[in-house]
Amino acid sequence: MEKIIIFGASGHAGVVIDIIEKQEKYDILGIFVDTPEMQGIKYMGYPILGRIDNFYGSNKGIVAIGDNFSRQLIVNKIKEMKKDFQFATAIHPGAIIGKNVNLGEGTVIVAGSVINANSIIGKHCIINTQSSVDHDVTIGDFSTVAPGSQIGGKSNIGTLSTISMGANVIQKINIGNGSLIGAGSTVIRNIPDGVLAFGTPAKVIRQREPNEKYM
Ligand SMILES: CC(C)(COP(=O)(O)OP(=O)(O)OC[C@H]1O[C@@H](n2cnc3c(N)ncnc32)[C@H](O)[C@@H]1OP(=O)(O)O)[C@@H](O)C(=O)NCCC(=O)NCCS
Repeated sequence: MEKIIIFGASGHAGVVIDIIEKQEKYDILGIFVDTPEMQGIKYMGYPILGRIDNFYGSNKGIVAIGDNFSRQLIVNKIKEMKKDFQFATAIHPGAIIGKNVNLGEGTVIVAGSVINANSIIGKHCIINTQSSVDHDVTIGDFSTVAPGSQIGGKSNIGTLSTISMGANVIQKINIGNGSLIGAGSTVIRNIPDGVLAFGTPAKVIRQREPNEKYM
């Protein structure tokens, strides 16, 4: 099996490791983190091999960091260090992926999620537990569809955006880049770039910085 390395050792990394084991496609060599206090210990049975900025061992891996903005920073750092680094995808065997679905490198599809025909999921996205992405949907790079949320057919989600837990987006909606839809919302109108929106129906509450924490 091809050997890969994992970047990150948070709860989300635990989920990604579990998926990779179940895929039976890759052998995990070890984990690289950005916190010095974790070095030398094991996480999920795998050794923490060192700092992300000194990674080694394989030219293939996955960035298992839940926060969209932090994930992008680390992906960019890895690409600067090694231009030909390859990013693996992690697809839980209990996810359902439809015909002509395109999944970008580094993307994670968690258990129970359904992605229907002709959808395009960008690079380094997270389609989280039991979420539903209907047909002909486009999701931009570094975005997250959180657990239990649903995206209607032909909707477009921009880059670095999050559809939070249990939120619903009806069909043919455009959500911009760097926006966050609050948990449990119902989106029935387009949402622009760089905003926080929530409620039923979802309304823009305020502008949002791309690096704002949401977890
Ligand atoms: C939107 C969110 C980030 C909270 O933002 P915040 O600016 O910290 O908001 P606060 O918690 O301080 O709440 C401020 C007000 O907004 C309301 N509010 C916050 N989130 C809301 C939501 N999703 N729906 C409706 N109202 C909400 C609060 O009730 C509060 O109202 P009040 O002032 O009348 O009491 C948070 O609710 C959320 O949805 N987080 C995402 C969680 C998630 O799914 N993460 C991904 C996991 S994979």
